[in-house]
Amino acid sequence: MASSQAASGETEPGGHKPWENPLMDARDLRMPRIAGPSSLVIFGVTGDLSKKKLLPAVYDLANRGLLPASFGLIGFGRRDWTTDEFAAFAEENVRAHSRTPFNEATWRHLKEGMRFVKGNFDDAEAFRKLSQTVSELDRDRGTRGNHAFYMSIPPKAFPVVSEQLASSGLAHSDPGAWKRVIIEKPFGHDLASAKELDRVVGEVFEPDSVFRIDHYLGKETVQNILALRFANMMFEPVWNANYVSHVQITMAEDMGIGGRAGYYDGIGAARDVIQNHLLQLMALTAMEEPVSFAASDLTAEKTKVLSAVRLPKDLGAHTARGQYSAGWQGSQPVVGYLEEQGIDPKSTTETYAAIRLDVDTRRWAGVPFYLRTGKRLGKRVSEIAVVFKRAPHLPFDATATRELGANAVVIRVQPDEGVTLRFGAKTPGSAMEVRDVNMDFSYGRSFTEASPEAYERLILDVLLGDPPLFPTSGEVDLSWKILDPIEEYWAGLGQPEPYRAGTWGPAQADRMLAADGHHWRMP
Ligand code: BG6
Repeated sequence: MASSQAASGETEPGGHKPWENPLMDARDLRMPRIAGPSSLVIFGVTGDLSKKKLLPAVYDLANRGLLPASFGLIGFGRRDWTTDEFAAFAEENVRAHSRTPFNEATWRHLKEGMRFVKGNFDDAEAFRKLSQTVSELDRDRGTRGNHAFYMSIPPKAFPVVSEQLASSGLAHSDPGAWKRVIIEKPFGHDLASAKELDRVVGEVFEPDSVFRIDHYLGKETVQNILALRFANMMFEPVWNANYVSHVQITMAEDMGIGGRAGYYDGIGAARDVIQNHLLQLMALTAMEEPVSFAASDLTAEKTKVLSAVRLPKDLGAHTARGQYSAGWQGSQPVVGYLEEQGIDPKSTTETYAAIRLDVDTRRWAGVPFYLRTGKRLGKRVSEIAVVFKRAPHLPFDATATRELGANAVVIRVQPDEGVTLRFGAKTPGSAMEVRDVNMDFSYGRSFTEASPEAYERLILDVLLGDPPLFPTSGEVDLSWKILDPIEEYWAGLGQPEPYRAGTWGPAQADRMLAADGHHWRMP
């Protein structure tokens, strides 16, 4: 590791290692972290993720000056393309989806480092060509043997691609250089398959060369959970079971499954989102203060939370699953899940999932964490709401506090990024009446700099070899351990409860909170 850092200039002046502080580039704009000479090889380069997120993120990084002059980008795919045709495809998607304005000079330079290699994953000859192309980039572009392989492909293709990388010599690093592999979720579909996947990749790459993407961890607002909790005095003293009634973690989407039937059907909302994004959000919300922001210290704290999770005894009462039926998205009529193109009309896949989890620690004993996610809900919103207990005594007439709800700290992950504090305030007038009000911090109003896309941050971190924002295989396994019994229970239930598109999910979701004396927030 040490030699590869030196090779790519990753150790900063004063011996400070950038991965010791994941908040650094948000905090210290005078010292932007710039990747060293390297290339990114994308498998699955014509897929949706690559078109909408990866290629635009690479361009945005280049445009922000965070990629080195000697950067290469290699697309690997089945299309019969020349490099120029690949570059035209990349340009079209960059123009359509990048965050920063299109700049001809940036593009020209990026394009000079682009290559396309045509091939199938099981074609040894194609990998030989890839190896040759990588060497040419080393020679002509100065990428110095540093290459990251992005597996934007279905997990069933991981074994063959890993083997090809190994047998073509591409996984091998020369002294002073590095090879890294980036794996997209889903990391398996249960604990056993996740372990198998890990074994396969582990045969080819060392653990510290494997970067698992959970793109929620790349979001500014998610990293801000650490800043909010551990840079301030006012939140942490009340962040525990003495004051907190319950926590609601929501990731709601208004869109349906789009063109992703092949991926989504049989996977469902819980495996797609709860197993990764929502459990990571829960771990960051519930964990103790880490010794430092180094990857190992963060992992240690997240692992403790995930290990302390207890499932409800009665999964029927404390979980909910639903499937959207025809309804509305805004003013547009939309079809139900079973009518979506490519979906088995008898599919029992859930498009909505909600679960209650408890964290058996002194800090959180008796505080339920409710996690919910769904497609075709009323609105696109992701948030973490820490809802507080009522004050033990209210020295007012009963009528004065009729309108007073529970205090809450709401971390607004997206789309309106920021934090809301909800508390009671006196309404103006001669009577003492208290009503809920909101105090808002908004990224848009407080900062002039727009937040980078999650994939910008994560691709940059891979090129820098900076691991804190990537879940470890241990975290992934623990997350499957939590989800597997729920999936097993649901598998015996048959058809999920329908909910109309554009509403907030199945009735069971409301019943499950009502059973605990709570109700879902309406974001
Ligand atoms: C992905 C899921 O991980 O996150 C998708 O596979 C989902 O189903 C997407 O639509 C949402 O991401 P974001 O960043 O828009 O909340």
